[in-house]
Amino acid sequence: MSYSSFDLLDVSRPILVFGKDGQVGRALQSCLKSFKVPVVFLGRDECDLSDESALIVALNQYQPQIIINAAAYTAVDQAEGEPDLAFAINAKAPRLMAQYIAGVSRGVLVHYSTDYVFADTKKAPYLETDSVGPVDQLCVYGQSKLGGEQSIEEVFNLIRDSENLKDTNHLPKYFILRTSWVYGDGSNFIRTILKLASERDSLKVVADQVGVPSSATWLAEIGVQLAGGGVASGIFHTVPDGEVSWHGLAIFAIEAAASYGEGLELKPEDIQAIPAKDYPLSAARPYNSRMNNQKLKKVLSDMAFTGQYPHWREQVDCYVEKIVKESIKS
Ligand SMILES: NC(=O)c1ccc[n+]([C@@H]2O[C@H](COP(=O)([O-])OP(=O)(O)OC[C@H]3O[C@@H](n4cnc5c(N)ncnc54)[C@H](OP(=O)(O)O)[C@@H]3O)[C@@H](O)[C@H]2O)c1
Repeated sequence: MSYSSFDLLDVSRPILVFGKDGQVGRALQSCLKSFKVPVVFLGRDECDLSDESALIVALNQYQPQIIINAAAYTAVDQAEGEPDLAFAINAKAPRLMAQYIAGVSRGVLVHYSTDYVFADTKKAPYLETDSVGPVDQLCVYGQSKLGGEQSIEEVFNLIRDSENLKDTNHLPKYFILRTSWVYGDGSNFIRTILKLASERDSLKVVADQVGVPSSATWLAEIGVQLAGGGVASGIFHTVPDGEVSWHGLAIFAIEAAASYGEGLELKPEDIQAIPAKDYPLSAARPYNSRMNNQKLKKVLSDMAFTGQYPHWREQVDCYVEKIVKESIKS
């Protein structure tokens, strides 16, 4: 991926990354390693995002020009019992980040969000322009992430016509990257399946929920690319091409692992397809997690992005190869 557009940006203040120890956060650490501009990475220990005053202190201390927020309360089932904490981290903290960036000339906020803001109102992939919710049909995690999106948009709508920001070249911007089924350096579905496949000779996996697996490495690269390019603010459905069910993804992952020489107990035919209703969880998951990525493709091509847009299969294949090499049993 090329960062040429980013190099042109006058970054006089640091990039501040929240969520440095998460899957996307770790990928951002690798992605931004060779950057000429200063980058500060914060984890929960350095700045607890449920503590408003800690966040304000960090913003005042580092005075970033660009914020990349990869932190989130992501324990989807646990969130049902901790709505206040989920909202504090996923909705209130992004509002404060937006309020800060809204006052910075050429400031940029990149924020990651989720398909959980949609409540199965559509059979086809969702567009950025589709209605979210209805809120009362979203799980607490989905509601809190939607709260984050809406907070950011409210703040930027307010400043859009502000008197002292008439010079549009200096207008601060936001990018909300909605993604799904993330995997990277951390716990995720693919790692869990490969671990189980090394221990068991049968498994039941949900087959009636469909989405798009998204690589944390790629999500980090897209976030950085948008932060540096001349793209207008907005929401972007940030998923690779293709779609698959959890059952299909489990089969793909173990076939890929076998192709890289991993001896597994579980064979693809030993994975039984079950409906989601037979695997009840505290928080309901969407049946349709598919999001249309045409808007993102268009801006990447307008930015003269030369890389080929990925399909989830190639990315998952590379990921499985990597973790087989690292030993899936460790
Ligand atoms: N994972 C998915 O399948 C998925 C799907 C769709 C969208 N997303 C979105 O993509 C983004 C990145 O997800 P991810 O998979 O990288 O998540 P992740 O691996 O769970 O990482 C989230 C990070 O947020 C940090 N965090 C949680 N509470 C915090 C707090 N109070 N203060 C400061 N930091 C806190 C966590 O810190 P600790 O390391 O200390 O726990 C963790 O490092 C999130 O916005 C998420 O909502 C994820």
